[in-house]
Amino acid sequence: MAKQEDQFKKVISHAKEYGYIFPSSEIYDGLSAVYDYGQNGAELKKNIREYWWKSMVQMNQNIVGLDSAIFMHPTTWKASGHVDAFSDPLIDNKDSKKRYRADVLVEDYAEKLNIKAEKEIAKAEKRFGDSFDREQYEATNPRVIGYREKQKSATARLAKYLDADDLTAVKALIEELEIACPESGSKNWTDVRQFNLMFGTKLGASAETATDLFLRPETAQGIFVNFLNVQKTGRMKIPFGIAQTGKAFRNEIVARQFIFRMREFEQMEMQFFVRPGEEMKWYEHWKETRLMWHKSLGLGDENYRFHDHEKLAHYANAAADIEFNFPFGFKELEGIHSRTDFDLKAHEEFSGKKLQFFDPELNESYVPYVVETSIGLDRMFLAVFSTALQEEELDNGSSRTVLKLPAVLAPVKAAVLPLVKKDGLPEIAHQIIDNLKFDYNVIYDEKDAVGRRYRRQDAAGTPFCITVDHDTKEDGKVTVRDRDSMEQERVDIDELQTLLDKKINFKHWMS
Ligand code: GAP
Repeated sequence: MAKQEDQFKKVISHAKEYGYIFPSSEIYDGLSAVYDYGQNGAELKKNIREYWWKSMVQMNQNIVGLDSAIFMHPTTWKASGHVDAFSDPLIDNKDSKKRYRADVLVEDYAEKLNIKAEKEIAKAEKRFGDSFDREQYEATNPRVIGYREKQKSATARLAKYLDADDLTAVKALIEELEIACPESGSKNWTDVRQFNLMFGTKLGASAETATDLFLRPETAQGIFVNFLNVQKTGRMKIPFGIAQTGKAFRNEIVARQFIFRMREFEQMEMQFFVRPGEEMKWYEHWKETRLMWHKSLGLGDENYRFHDHEKLAHYANAAADIEFNFPFGFKELEGIHSRTDFDLKAHEEFSGKKLQFFDPELNESYVPYVVETSIGLDRMFLAVFSTALQEEELDNGSSRTVLKLPAVLAPVKAAVLPLVKKDGLPEIAHQIIDNLKFDYNVIYDEKDAVGRRYRRQDAAGTPFCITVDHDTKEDGKVTVRDRDSMEQERVDIDELQTLLDKKINFKHWMS
């Protein structure tokens, strides 16, 4: 645990030191759970957004984009259920005065049991070696069975009480499971209360005439209210999708863990409109497709797992998270939700406008069902950044800090380094940059010895260094150094574009 915490601290300080993420309004001591992206962070975030957008919109003939406003008519949020149901159950510890989400306390308790069970299994696997049969061991070992039963019972009871909105039972469950405050260690809890997560604001010049608005807590509703506009103007046929990226706002009760849970964050969402009855097929399709997208980045297949929801949101008939192995353990990275026709039907009811599709093959009109994929851009940033940051022991006994960002996402693709600041080498380096800059973000670096420059670029996440030396003037070749393997090759300046293209191009990563 201490090791994980140390790693997480390193991630946060490295993100700041290398211009990725700063606390918001830091000169005023920051603002809780709000962050700014620096010069490198803005690029990495843009590249992740683009990687998502291209794979969703550009690669799929039946998915189109949208950019809807953050402010929406206030009735939107009544129809969507957010006014009544977008709340978290909160509980305070009377001794530490810390506030928690009651459901998260129980989920963390269940996860601890899961970890215990996995530890037992790992021990047995070590003992039995190749002859180990995991399935049989899980089904017969009393300790593992005990942990799993306790885990299942806790999550099932939580889901049942939350469904019934029985907050007294949730508190009783926390007490029965003897869950203690991580801060004070005490079990002295307040009652559980519901807390709506939407931020309110006002539109209008004077207090009397102003309209109460909400900052959108998800981008999805902008898609639903534009369903017919897009369908008609784009002559879209079901099944089809609408994708958008944009800011969302939630007054989170517990906003910790850096950019994992923020109060202002960005989502990348896609609503896929399908025939009623076909939603489960598409739900499975999108679960698999989205997992493949994640895996395409090469952060390690073992770092992902699905978590199927037992407690479903008010709009869903099936839901799963893609969880990622963050520095603080496996947590939700993306949600795939089968939202039924809940949203479109609700908007029909509240607006009085029909939101239906005439299906020429069936010769009938219906309200489409929706399968949604929804991922937090900031959370994706954290997944990429925290996995990429590594300390490496080198063969010569030294070590290096390296940020192994996937090249397709790296803020700066290459640094061009003249070996010395004279003899015409800087001029050649600038010429190389001038040729490459139309396609790639390439920078110039001449300060310090070349070895130190390599280390600096390793830590900043730059996948390639291009060194111009005295031989370059004779043979027109430069040294290209690969950040991850540290291997170097001599390459003709005219071939640089092709080489970078092969390693960085979206096509290479997605195929
Ligand atoms: N439209 C469905 C929806 O919003 P969600 O599970 O509440 O579903 C989707 O959110 C994704 O948005 C999450 O998987 C997560 O990546 C991201 N997300 C949600 N709340 C967040 C927060 N407070 N800070 C950062 N990312 C958040």
